[in-house]
Order: sequence, then structure tokens, then C-alpha cells
Amino acid sequence: DKKLVIGLFGFGVVGEGLYHVLHQTPSLKAEIRRVCIKHPGKKRNAPAELFTTDKDELLFDKEINVIVEVIDDSVAAFDIVHTAFKNGKAVVSASKKMIAEHLNEILALQKETNLPFLCEAAACASIPVIRNLEEYYDNDLLHGIKAIVNGSTNFILTKMFEEKLTYSEALLLAQQLGFAESNPALDVEGFDAVNKWTLLLTHAYGIIESPENIVFTGIQNIQLTDANVAKEKSYDIKLVAQAQKLKNGKVAAFVLPQFVSHDDHLSFVRNEYNGVVIESGFADKQFFYGKGAGSFPTASAVLSDISALRYDYKYEYKKLYYHTPGELSHDFYVRA
Ligand code: HSE
Repeated sequence: DKKLVIGLFGFGVVGEGLYHVLHQTPSLKAEIRRVCIKHPGKKRNAPAELFTTDKDELLFDKEINVIVEVIDDSVAAFDIVHTAFKNGKAVVSASKKMIAEHLNEILALQKETNLPFLCEAAACASIPVIRNLEEYYDNDLLHGIKAIVNGSTNFILTKMFEEKLTYSEALLLAQQLGFAESNPALDVEGFDAVNKWTLLLTHAYGIIESPENIVFTGIQNIQLTDANVAKEKSYDIKLVAQAQKLKNGKVAAFVLPQFVSHDDHLSFVRNEYNGVVIESGFADKQFFYGKGAGSFPTASAVLSDISALRYDYKYEYKKLYYHTPGELSHDFYVRA
């Protein structure tokens, strides 16, 4: 039986969550051997001998066969991933920004080393959306995807419009609950959502684009008048990420605040929850729902990746390698 020996980078909201979640999952036979952290002075809720600030103690430890990377700094994260691959280790990552910015390099490293790279926690946290998108066999059967992929903005919109909190109160609460990025502008201005959408476009359509090529806006420009119109018409305002197969075969993709009617599945998605509606040829319509941020929900996705390594699961990137990859439409597309 395969023993997984983990070197963990990061002990913040997600890293600490993973430590506790793994402790409650003994049957997985996965052990965290060392944890690399940036700030050794902080009080940690785990034995002191686990921690180091020297990344090489993890990356060059021959017994460690899995590197789990859940840090905030995308430059440092890519360096860790790169070195981990070169040292023959499987990689699990939750760093959506790093992945979105380095898709090509990560794919090349995977091809070169034939090692798994799993990142279920990087998009929609507890919802197994990446693994699901991997399972649609034929590119043109996936008609479209519509999703709420950022928990903090959904939380803020819910608290403002349903519970009458001010923007600052709602944001502060999202920060205290561990949903927001350490720089919350990344959530509010849509950067986090577009990074996640970039990653999902690769698994859904085989499209590799840099996040800046995808049209996006966050919730920063929503005005009281927008809220009033929404209320009058019984709509919700949601930050929606959308991808739609067009008649010309290309894919329109964007992240924008939208009015969502009450009979839309996404209107059901409140607070830090995320939701994904997939329309496809065989299954017709599917709706996935779950927590998109927070310590244990995100750790649960990392745990599912660690569990998948036990049976050597790898993403196949079917849309990229076995079908003609999709192409992003650069004509802005508005639904009639
Ligand atoms: N800040 C992110 C969010 C965390 O609010 O969705 C989960 O990726």
C-alpha cells in the first residue's frame, strides 16, 4: 500500500486546515513530515519540530514523495513547484494565481517528468469541479459553464443586499472568517475569479490563455442604483464567470457582475458558497454547489487530491491533447 509522505508549504488558513483534516483521516495513510513556513515567530497549533523555514529540507528530502503547496506568494509558489517536479515529487497546489500565470510551464513540467500535478482546491474549493470537467469526453458536447467562483465577493454581496451590512463591514467579516485573499482587492476587483476561470477553461476546453486576455470586472463598480434595479425586478446581483461555446466554434469567456433571476440556480448560491452550472450534450444540465472558501472546505479539496495520488490519478487534459483545443473568442459576447 502506497505511503504518502508530505512536505507542506504554508500553514495559513488552508495549510492548518489540512493538518487538522488529515489528522481526522487516518485511513488515508498520509503523513505530514515537515512544514515550511515564512514567519517562524508565529504561534502554531502543531508540534514545533514539524516546522522549518528552509525549503530545501522538504524539496531535497528523499522520503518526501508529495509536495503540497498552499502559500500566498505566486512567485515563490512556482519556484517550489518547479523544484519539486525536478526532484521527482508529485505536487498538489491551491495557488490559483500561480497556476493561471504558469499553465504552459506546468504542463511542460508534467510532460517531462510524468508526475501528477493536482489542484482541485484552486477553484471552487470544496466542489470537485476540475475533476468533473476532465470527464467530458468531447469538446463540442460542453455547451457552456456559468459559475460563482469567488466566495468572498459572493459573501459580501449577500451580506450587503440581504442583511444590510455596509461594504466595509461585510469585507471585514470575510477577512475574519478567512475567506478573503491577504490582499482583498484580488477578490473584490475580480482577479481571483479570473485566475480560477483561466484554470477551468483549460480543463473544460483545452484553452490556455493568460488571465489578462479574459474580460473581467469585479464588484467594485456596483452602485446603489444597480442594487435598486435588482430589487425592483427581484433579481440578485452575482459575480458570474461564464464560458459559452459559440456557433463559430470559439469560446466566449468572461467574469462580470450580472443580474441573476430567482429561477436561476446561481441565485441559490449565497454567502461563501460557490456554484457551477454546466450544460452539456449528454447530461443536459448539472448544478454543483458547495463552499468555495474557508479553512476546512478548502482543505477538503486538498485532501481529495492527496487521496487521488494513492491511485496515481493524473489529469489527462483530454481537451488539450486528444481533441482540438478550443479557442477563445476575442469578440466580446453579450447574451441577447
Ligand atoms: N479568496 C478566495 C475566495 C478564497 O474568496 O473565493 C478561495 O479561493
